Amino acid sequence: MNSAAAPLYEIRNLACSYGDDPVLFIDRLDIPADGPTAFIGHNGSGKSTLLKALAFLLKPASGTVRFLGGETAGRENEFRRQATLLLQEPYLLRRTVFENIAYGLRARNDTKGLRDRVAEGLEMVGLPADFSKREWFQLSGGEARRVALASRLVLRTRALLLDEPTANVDEENAILIAGVVKNSWKQWGTVPLVASHDLQWLEGVCSRTVSMRRGKIESTAG
Ligand SMILES: Nc1ncnc2c1ncn2[C@@H]1O[C@H](COP(=O)(O)OP(=O)(O)OP(=O)(O)O)[C@@H](O)[C@H]1O
Ligand SMILES: [Mg+2]
Repeated sequence: MNSAAAPLYEIRNLACSYGDDPVLFIDRLDIPADGPTAFIGHNGSGKSTLLKALAFLLKPASGTVRFLGGETAGRENEFRRQATLLLQEPYLLRRTVFENIAYGLRARNDTKGLRDRVAEGLEMVGLPADFSKREWFQLSGGEARRVALASRLVLRTRALLLDEPTANVDEENAILIAGVVKNSWKQWGTVPLVASHDLQWLEGVCSRTVSMRRGKIESTAG
């Protein structure tokens, strides 16, 4: 893998379908590794589908996705460890907040200082440390989304794919999340790729924008 100079993702002739319905076609898109990228577009334009493909959770119908110069086909499990996705409808395990945030670290056998890292994750998303004891059903919608975000942030993956990270989140916490997302790039070199309808928020976080329309790239800027 040539990670020194390669883009984060190189997409070529990518097509994705749900069943027999083709919904995404990208002939060519490079996503650089040098900072955050925003994905914008109308409902149904393909943002979530693209993020799922980039997280190696949706197998392309055809085409290729290279990650940091490496061929990913057939090696999805390996690359899934380097790219984590906050789903548009965030999913929590039916466990405590602590177990939710610890889950990915445990799955990676990366449990050194686990308690501190869970506490750090909660702090990053503006939740008090004693939230770790709460059960998954004892959270508001915005709190649940922030717990799901914390569970992704603590992994410090190379790519952090965020699908509508500020939906249901109040303004104060949306500002906090903008800072955390930018910081994850500055501090750890984690590259955020963010789909959102909140264009003003995106502007403060990402200097590069990919616009999508009807499953295709309409334009790129920045
Ligand atoms: N699980 C699914 N099964 C079938 N079709 C789907 C599924 N998920 C999405 N689609 C379709 O794929 C297309 C792209 O959807 P996608 O969720 O990627 O759009 P989006 O840009 O994320 O939209 P939004 O802004 O509403 O989140 C749409 O036409 C949608 O109806
Ligand atoms: Mg979506």
